[in-house]
Amino acid sequence: MPYAHITGWGMSVPETVMTNDDLSKIVDTNDQWIRERTGIHERRIAKDGQTSSSLGVEAALKALKVANLRPTDLDLIICSTSTPDYIFPATACMIQDQIGATKAGAFDLLAACTGFIYATNMAAQAIRSGSIKSALVIGAETLSRFVNWKDRNTCILFGDGAGAFVIQASDKPGGIYSAVMHSDGSGGDLLTLPGGGSVHPATEATVHEGKHFIEMDGKEVFRFATRVMAQATNEALEAAGMTIEQINWIVPHQANIRIIEAAARGLKQPMDRFIVNLDRYGNTSTASIPIATVEAVEKGQIKVGDKLVMVGFGAGLTWGALTAEWTGPLPSKGHVRPEQYRVLGRIRSFVRRAIRFIEGIIFRREL
Ligand code: ACO
Repeated sequence: MPYAHITGWGMSVPETVMTNDDLSKIVDTNDQWIRERTGIHERRIAKDGQTSSSLGVEAALKALKVANLRPTDLDLIICSTSTPDYIFPATACMIQDQIGATKAGAFDLLAACTGFIYATNMAAQAIRSGSIKSALVIGAETLSRFVNWKDRNTCILFGDGAGAFVIQASDKPGGIYSAVMHSDGSGGDLLTLPGGGSVHPATEATVHEGKHFIEMDGKEVFRFATRVMAQATNEALEAAGMTIEQINWIVPHQANIRIIEAAARGLKQPMDRFIVNLDRYGNTSTASIPIATVEAVEKGQIKVGDKLVMVGFGAGLTWGALTAEWTGPLPSKGHVRPEQYRVLGRIRSFVRRAIRFIEGIIFRREL
């Protein structure tokens, strides 16, 4: 059975920084409250034209470059997002088209902030089963488009960004060892975006009532999160036959520093074993774990051979964790420039649209 290795990684965040002081000009809040209650100092906000797919494409191309893998070699693309470009088509298909991954199947996965754990596990399982050889997993969010900028309970928390992993098959032991995934839909109402689905299809009334914004019971989500973080970590370790002492780094979902501190207490681990960057990006939902991982790798914190736990929780309710050994890129020949495939992808996309348009004119006449 092949092993599933993380061989490429990349991240992309918007350039626009929104500080706590900027927020205090919009809602009744202040820098001190936000820092003390959440640990967040600033977050990134997508500018006009930046979307979950465009951030996802940037992160994906960087990940492919690290892996030295052509987009055309990808078998599968999973985009984890709660803030897709559209309800359908899938954001994963937008990314597939833009990077020129002509051979890949592509779909979106919605497990909120736990989504990247779920998606990585799904890709790893497909590789371990032998049915595919390489996958691209992306976590991408533009939460700023779904936040009520008048609600200080939620708007202070979230930010935009994307992170991506390339996962490849190898006979060499290592890579993703284990994963656990959990859900409890009885808590679905604790964190929800109620409008725009089949329960509350978009109408003037739903817009007026603010149903297209994120709604959250912060205290209950906090209580749930502090309970499941240590629990999921221990389950994933047990499934891998490992102990927490064998782990070099824990990469938690970046929601609130107090939640991470509670997880550290629950696991009896010092905070310096946790990768934390929420001070600069806020909660980027499903993108937070890959963004934190990529930064830690680029800073030289996470090194080849290190053993990691990634652990998350989110709306659904969902929670989960995975264990992995960081192996880095597989040996490969030549030098791949994934950006070139983006240009080729654009040309291909244009040609296909043109052909579809012409065929439409010809065949419609025959009907
Ligand atoms: N600025 C200033 N004061 C505020 C703010 C704010 N932004 N927000 C709330 N307050 C006030 C409240 O009104 C309250 O005042 P009161 O005591 O006079 O009534 C006081 O501060 C305390 O409010 P709490 O809600 O009790 O604050 P708490 O310590 O619970 O922190 C928070 C709120 C940060 C939202 C916390 O509950 C939390 O982080 N919850 C988890 C949220 C989370 O992680 N969500 C993402 C899940 S992942 C996903 O799927 C996207």
